[in-house]
Amino acid sequence: MDKKTFYITTPIYYPSGQPHIGHGYCTVAADTMARYKRMQGFDVMFLTGTDEHGQKIETKAKEAGVTPKEYVDGIVANFQKLWELLEISNDRFIRTTDDYHVEAVQKIFKQLYDQGDIYKGEYVGKYCTPCEAFWTESQLKDGKCPDCGREVTEAHEEAYFFRLSAYADRLVKYYEEHPDFMEPQARFNEMVNNFIRPGLEDLCVSRTSFTWGVPVTFDTRHVVYVWVDALSNYITALGYGNNRYHDYDKYWPADIHLVGKEIMRFHAIIWPAILMALDLPLPKKVYGHGWLLFGGGKMSKSKGNVVDPVVLCQRYSVDAIRYFLLREIPFGSDGNFSNEALIGRINSDLANDLGNLVSRTVSMAEKYFGGTLPPEREAADPDGELCAMASSLGEAVERALDGMQFPQALTEIFRLISRCNKYIDETTPWTLGKDPAKRARLASVLYNLLECVRIAAVYLTPFMPATSPRIFDQIGAGEELRTWESASRFGSLPADVTVHKGETLFPRIDEAKELAELEAMLSDPEKVSGKAEEKAPEKAMEKKEEKPAGVAAFSEIVIDDFAKVELRVAQVKACEPVPKSDKLLRLELDDGVSGRQVVSGIAPWYKPEELVGRKLVVVANLKAAKLRGVLSQGMILAADAGENDVKVLFVDESVPNGSRVR
Ligand code: ME8
Repeated sequence: MDKKTFYITTPIYYPSGQPHIGHGYCTVAADTMARYKRMQGFDVMFLTGTDEHGQKIETKAKEAGVTPKEYVDGIVANFQKLWELLEISNDRFIRTTDDYHVEAVQKIFKQLYDQGDIYKGEYVGKYCTPCEAFWTESQLKDGKCPDCGREVTEAHEEAYFFRLSAYADRLVKYYEEHPDFMEPQARFNEMVNNFIRPGLEDLCVSRTSFTWGVPVTFDTRHVVYVWVDALSNYITALGYGNNRYHDYDKYWPADIHLVGKEIMRFHAIIWPAILMALDLPLPKKVYGHGWLLFGGGKMSKSKGNVVDPVVLCQRYSVDAIRYFLLREIPFGSDGNFSNEALIGRINSDLANDLGNLVSRTVSMAEKYFGGTLPPEREAADPDGELCAMASSLGEAVERALDGMQFPQALTEIFRLISRCNKYIDETTPWTLGKDPAKRARLASVLYNLLECVRIAAVYLTPFMPATSPRIFDQIGAGEELRTWESASRFGSLPADVTVHKGETLFPRIDEAKELAELEAMLSDPEKVSGKAEEKAPEKAMEKKEEKPAGVAAFSEIVIDDFAKVELRVAQVKACEPVPKSDKLLRLELDDGVSGRQVVSGIAPWYKPEELVGRKLVVVANLKAAKLRGVLSQGMILAADAGENDVKVLFVDESVPNGSRVR
């Protein structure tokens, strides 16, 4: 039997500026939904892309002195890199400048014209260029764009119109017959009260005052209105009107168009009317999520308060950011982004609750049973309660996710995690461990904990796709015990399961220190400028690949290999920053033989004066190299002390300079 399909889309983003965390919010939500449905066994099509035409882009490109295509190409590449960094699992990426899409939009426009749904007239009204939206006088708010509050301009030009007004009654009837079409409910009320009730007017669907758009084939002075071009992506990406893809019949109508609330109007009124005119089925649901606010306003580049998602991922890990976005903000409402709230969530939920539970459970299994549980068991209270909670979790998570209630789903999962931590306090395994007669009871307690951790990790997979496998590896859960379906079966881990302690999942963050560092970073324009942002995705990706996946990723060497490395104790005699670099320090060392200088990338963590006089370990026989033009004769040893912390390995003062380390 063919699998059931699930088609989810994000809006296609304007590449008029660099991607920011607000774009990430919508995409992470859609990705989580797509991953969830895939785990449930659906054949998923998850589409995202970029909306590349329109006056705004044409103007920006002109300002930058490049062609519009050149302008968007660079930014689109950064969107794609960001999605890769954020582990976005989209199945397709559409660019509205792709030939197949352009061809299909031209066909759609022509068909609507031929059948009389589009006619030629004259447009007189208001236009908001940043939003690429037409407004009537009565829709303006204090004479300004009701969406973004910015000035609108007079628009007066020959144009084609779409007979939107003719579809008002059919739209209302459709809404009545499909009460779930718009969600949340508040969006439905907004649409009906603000747009439908005052009366729908025909929509201007072509422009002649600029050229960066899809040309109207039968009147080439006109380009297709960017929203008609953009909305069509949801079907052209499946092959409607083109031969590039052939999945239209399989996936259309979409299950969910996930969009920001300000573009609900386009998706819940204009797009359905276009589809009705084309005699195509309507999407099953349009979900209008709220905005991620930063200091109270909608985050946007133009307001200068962008939080760079790449920097956030580098500092806190991708999964921590994904978790925060979907846990903190009630989906459908607006919510504030703040570094304090983010650090708070990481410390309390991820490091304390989840991280501690995993590490305590695995450590105890190693400590008391050498890592492999013995098969004997002894059940007692409150095992039943814990087990029941774990067994009913799937239903609660599914209910929440099917209703797009991401925070609720996570709350349910973390309720189980908290219950487990309480269970540890109640059962006191450290007391059981002292009494050989309690061996079976201790094995039961640890098994129950491992099972709950497994179940929680399964349900966390769509949210935190990198973290769950790390948990599974630690608790010894094989592939078949990582599936959605397996999480409904408590007791699936083998009785003699073997655990493997791994790296800390989420190191605790020193909040005061971190906030001070962020503050310092914000006052360093190089770090937060658009330029740094443009380059950043690549850097983050490099970092991601460097990280070993766990102990198994290390390749073994023999003792002779190790002996080739000449490690010596050396003392820092002088130290200074390397000019034009915020990462590198130049250290002059006394290695007991002669002086040498080493360049090290530890400037973010150490001030030169903190190092002078200290003794450390240097790789003395490393081939010399130049870093930023400065000669480096060796390297000093330092440890990764967390996602974003590095500690130099200092040596006791009493060790003479030049001593061999082995
Ligand atoms: O509207 N919080 O593109 P866009 C939450 N090209 N969501 C945010 C956000 C924030 N701070 N900032 C932006 C367009 N978004 C059109 C779409 S679809 C056929 C065409 C969301 O790049 C915003 O709400 O301006 C919207 O859903 C999406 O990013 C794209 O915004």
